[in-house]
Amino acid sequence: MSFEPQKINGKFKGKDIISLDQFSPKDIDILFRLARKMKVIAANGKPSRVLDGKIVTLIFYEPSSRTFGSFGASVKQLGGQTVDILNPQVFSSVSKGETLEDTIRVFEAYCDAIVIRHPVAGTAKIAAEAAKFVPILNAGDGIGEHPTQTLLDLCTINEKHGRLNKLTGVMVGDLLNGRTVHSLLKGLSLYKNNTVYLLSPKELKLSKEDFRDYSLRGVKLIEISKQEELPKNADFWYWTRVQKERLKSLENYESLKNRFIVTKNLVNQKAGKNTIIMHPLPRVGEIDPIVDSDPRAVYLSSQVRNGMYIRMALLSLVITGK
Ligand code: CP
Repeated sequence: MSFEPQKINGKFKGKDIISLDQFSPKDIDILFRLARKMKVIAANGKPSRVLDGKIVTLIFYEPSSRTFGSFGASVKQLGGQTVDILNPQVFSSVSKGETLEDTIRVFEAYCDAIVIRHPVAGTAKIAAEAAKFVPILNAGDGIGEHPTQTLLDLCTINEKHGRLNKLTGVMVGDLLNGRTVHSLLKGLSLYKNNTVYLLSPKELKLSKEDFRDYSLRGVKLIEISKQEELPKNADFWYWTRVQKERLKSLENYESLKNRFIVTKNLVNQKAGKNTIIMHPLPRVGEIDPIVDSDPRAVYLSSQVRNGMYIRMALLSLVITGK
């Protein structure tokens, strides 16, 4: 029987965090409640002792600023330490041909949890199957999922609107390859009566399988092809970059990038006073920096800050159970 990560069911301790499929709305509530406490700890200016004596390995086969930085800061905020393995293809025995499974078995001997990012979808699950003693946290696996990004995205939406149901959202950009989009659609489908407008170049539409899967889960998806078709006053906009590293060629990327850009004009035409403008970042031209000072733009403020509070809460729950 193939390995499946366990459902959370209110109990986080020792569990791998691989996919939004493991979560229920109740689990997400537990996480949000603890994240609010973590916000207070982070504001205190001195580390807590929650992860005193604990070590977390951060093994990143792909570049990262936010996920690597916020996981590292989270461990330190909680009084723990990290083993940082960046670019293991070059700087670890992976360069000598060591398998992923062996690499995981070795690092789990040194730590209390492993956070892994990898370019191939499904790798976090393989790592979780290999690990015998410590939880594995998926920090993004290729075009697969990015569960901790979605948990912070849902936290940001909930913070603004006070609910995660009856929302109208907009997702724009590389919907085919964007793992943050895939996880967020799974996350939104846990709640009732959510509608998401999908806008992308036709080459980067959600795959038919994903479209069917998320629709069957209950989220209403409406594909549009022009910015003019965006609904007015949506609850959130979720803009994403075209994933250059997943495309066939640089020419292919150049022809697809920045077809849809958030400008002041677009915000004036289509956003409402309660619309929040989100982006998982990095942005590479999809949002005009003039929009940054709009109070509705949360991508460089609460969205990025919630990343640390959510990851602090998640680490505390999977390592200590509270
Ligand atoms: N949002 C996100 O995953 O950013 P990084 O790739 O910088 O971690």
